[in-house]
Amino acid sequence: MTFVTKENITELVLEVFERTPEPRLREVMQSLVKHLHAFIREVEPSDTEFEQGCEFLVSLGKNTSEKKNEVILASDILGASTLITLINNVKRAEQAGQFQTESALLGPFWRANAPFCEAGDTIARGNTQGMPLEVRGVVYDKHGKPLANATVDVWHASPIGLYENQDDAQENMNLRGRFKTDAHGAYFFKTVRPAGYPVPTNGPCGDLLRAQLRHPNRPAHLHFMVSMPGHKVLITQVFADGDDNLTSDPVFGVTALLVGHFQEHVTDGKTHATLTHDFHLTEGDMTFPHPPIP
Ligand code: BEZ
Ligand code: FE
Repeated sequence: MTFVTKENITELVLEVFERTPEPRLREVMQSLVKHLHAFIREVEPSDTEFEQGCEFLVSLGKNTSEKKNEVILASDILGASTLITLINNVKRAEQAGQFQTESALLGPFWRANAPFCEAGDTIARGNTQGMPLEVRGVVYDKHGKPLANATVDVWHASPIGLYENQDDAQENMNLRGRFKTDAHGAYFFKTVRPAGYPVPTNGPCGDLLRAQLRHPNRPAHLHFMVSMPGHKVLITQVFADGDDNLTSDPVFGVTALLVGHFQEHVTDGKTHATLTHDFHLTEGDMTFPHPPIP
């Protein structure tokens, strides 16, 4: 019979987990325990610090609601969400052996049922004010062939940096819409130029950012989810070039390829912007994520 010691506890836990029949669960939990115990051995938390850590996790749950997912936010500000996305980008590209648009994190504000719109419609609903922005591009398959009838789901923050679900002044589903590509694989929609915005700071993640002297402001961006049966769902973001926070995104989401070219034009003294951005899909199952908010 082996009694527990500080030295053997990691081995004992791993042995117990070895009985898990499902191989991936076994692998994930054993690795988690190895790294968790190594972290604890390195940091040697005091009892008070352990309590604080548990309270942090509990408050992630308490601060999660239909309007906000603090658990995803924690993963984002730790760089974990983006790291997972980057690893899966590389894997997908290796499997497909071809160029494909980089993915970016989903974020906490995707809603599954944005209204279907006609090409050229605006997603700026109600009396949303802001610089007009036209967005167009082509969706390609793995052979570089334009994909007709693909779905381009777009969502973004308002010119004052709020998603509609955070802002009672905006209409339901404002700045959200789904567009079908035409026979040439092209999509086209109108909107208003989004502003950068702070990630929510009224919960434990905000406390952590402040304690680490980090600003909460994401650079301005559009979110896209591009889908077509027989293809992997592409979740990505396109960032506004020239934004001051491109290299200090609190969720570490900006890679070089995700920066889009927003062009500003002046017509009759009024400024409007255009963005042309194409997407390349890879073949695979069309599996959608679970919406973080309804
Ligand atoms: C977003 O881009 O919507 C987002 C991503 C991570 C945290 C907060 C917001
Ligand atoms: Fe966003």
